[in-house]
Formats: sequence, structure tokens, C-alpha cells
Amino acid sequence: MDAPKKRIFSGIKPSGNLTLGSYIGAIKNWVALQDEYDCLYCVVDMHAITVRQDPALLRRRTLEQLAQYIACGLDPERNIMYIQSHVPAHAELSWVLGCYTMFGELSRMTQFKDKSRKNADNINAGLFTYPVLMAADILLYQADLVPVGEDQKQHVEIARDIANRFNNVYSQTFTLPEPFIPKTGARVMSLADPMSKMSKSEQDGDGCICLLDKPDDIMRAFKRAVTDSETCVRFDKENKPGVSNLMTIYSAATGKSFEDIENEFAGRGYGDFKAAVGESVVELLRPVREKTEDLLKNKDYLEQIYTEGARRAAFLASKTLDKVYRKVGFVKQPRI
Ligand code: TYM
Repeated sequence: MDAPKKRIFSGIKPSGNLTLGSYIGAIKNWVALQDEYDCLYCVVDMHAITVRQDPALLRRRTLEQLAQYIACGLDPERNIMYIQSHVPAHAELSWVLGCYTMFGELSRMTQFKDKSRKNADNINAGLFTYPVLMAADILLYQADLVPVGEDQKQHVEIARDIANRFNNVYSQTFTLPEPFIPKTGARVMSLADPMSKMSKSEQDGDGCICLLDKPDDIMRAFKRAVTDSETCVRFDKENKPGVSNLMTIYSAATGKSFEDIENEFAGRGYGDFKAAVGESVVELLRPVREKTEDLLKNKDYLEQIYTEGARRAAFLASKTLDKVYRKVGFVKQPRI
């Protein structure tokens, strides 16, 4: 008999439109790993409300994001795809884990410090305990691997620390998860400012490409991308951050190595290079946009996917939650 497959959990917040950064840093790997692992891919709407959201927009983006997961090549038959708020066990485990997480640990989270600076008028408790909910997401399903971009590494590490602490107090309960970070594209930078991350919270302007952007907008953003005063396509993150970022994107879109790219553009100007990167992204995203538009016409189908996904996820989650409740000393729940 074959050994059981290892498990993957990952998710993205529907707090903005999906970006090329999330695609290259996370979703591309999700698609690549779906054959080899048992995977759960979640739309983490509960994480999204740590920053104020427009309710109607959040609802729309949640469905659009699920449609984009499928359009990017995730198979809803093989993977469990669902919406976080449909499985209450995430919030339930999060409460318990919060009692095994230290104030000091959470205070050190880079993303908390960063988000507090950006949302100074709304530094709410959810923003602070965000990594505990993320740990609950991962640990509920006994995930072995968590494919994410570089910025989420610290959160997967704290999930591991919380799991370890709980296991040491109560005996083996949780699998210790590992982050899975791509070798290239772990941190895709803004086209307008290659020193800062491409981010869905900064979607206005030409720095960020979204998966549903139209070809003309994509080409315009790449034509305006910040480079440097040399005219040499060479990978050098420190001294040529803009060009190196474009090379990373081009490599992710075409599968070409950095060496191939340097040879392809040897002796040619940045104009040619930027246009080629733009075209490769247009071609990469064209089928994603078209398939998403199709899927959004069929809301019943999407509802069927997330309903079935939530059912399967809730079944797996209840096994872990029952075990945790028993270990911490809660009286067995009566049927009510
Ligand atoms: P989120 O929603 O900010 O980002 C989603 C995923 O995309 C990656 N990513 C990037 N990778 C490379 N370059 C970029 N510019 C870029 N921008 C985003 C992120 O690293 C992430 O993998 N807390 C998580 C969501 C979450 C989660 C989880 C993830 C909640 N629970 C459990 C994994 C497991 C977040 O805010 O990601």
C-alpha cells in the first residue's frame, strides 16, 4: 500500500485583488504541489477583517479569489478549497492556542509592527493575535508543509513554536509545519519602487499587477517599471533591484533561467526587455482572467465547491479540535 500523502495548508486574505506577487510567491507552488500532497487551500476572510473592509467588497473578493484559485490551475476535485469563516474550528482552536502564545512573541512579529505603523488609528487586538489564528489554520489540519512567500516565514515559524510548546505540555498533538518558500520569486517587488514588496494594499498606481488586470494596463505598468541608469540586463539584487525583480518575474512567467535571460537581452536596451517581460505576464495571466470571468458567471458552481470544501475541512478539523479539547481538560461536548 502507498504511504499516505503529506499534507499542505495555505491561504490568502481577500483584502485586495490577487497580485502577481501572491501568484509567483505562493499560488504557483500550490499548483505544482497539488499532485504530490493532500492540500487545503483556503480563502482566509477572517484574517482580512484585521484591517477595515468594505463588507460588500469583501464578499465579492472572497468569491473572486476562490474563482481565481481554480483559474490558476487548482483542481477543486483533488484539493479542499473553502472559505475560512465557514469552518468555526479555526476560531475555536485559535482561542485555545492563544492561551499558549506569549505576549512577547507576538510583539516581535514584523508584520504586526509594520501593519500597526500603517494603521495607526486601528491597532486592534485581532491584528496582534493574527499569527495565532494563522497557527490554528495550519495546525488544525496537521499540515506538514505551508507554501508561502518570504514575508510569511516568521508566521509559520511561530506556528511551529506554538505547536511545539503544546506538544511538550500535553504529549504529541500537532504536526510541526515547515514553510515552503520558492527559490526565485519569494519576494516580488513593486514595479514602481523595487525596494518595497509588491502588495495588494498598494494597488493604486503602476507598482502592482493584479491577476485580473487588462493587457494594456499590464503593458503600461511594465513600460514604466523603475530600472537603473545602466543598460545591462544582469541579475544583481543589491545594485540593480529593479532589473533583478523584472528578471525574477520573467523567469517565473517563462521558465527561463537568469543566465538565459541575460543572454537573450545582451546588447539590447531596457525598452525591449521591459516589453518582453510585460508580454510574458500578459500571456501568463490571459487564461487566468478569462477562466475567472467564466467561473464568476456560474455562482452555483462556486457555491458547490466551497460548500463541499467546508464540509471536508470541518471533518478533518473536528478530529484535531476534539483531541485538543480533551487534552486541555474540557468536558466532552454533549450533542445539542
Ligand atoms: P497574504 O494574503 O498577504 O499573501 C498571500 C501569499 O502570497 C505571498 N505574497 C508574496 N510572495 C512573493 N512576493 C510578494 N510580493 C508577495 N505578496 C504576497 C505571501 O507570502 C502569502 O504566501 N497571513 C497570510 C495568509 C494566511 C496563511 C494562513 C498563509 C492566513 N492563514 C495559513 C498560510 C497558512 C497572509 O497574509 O498572506
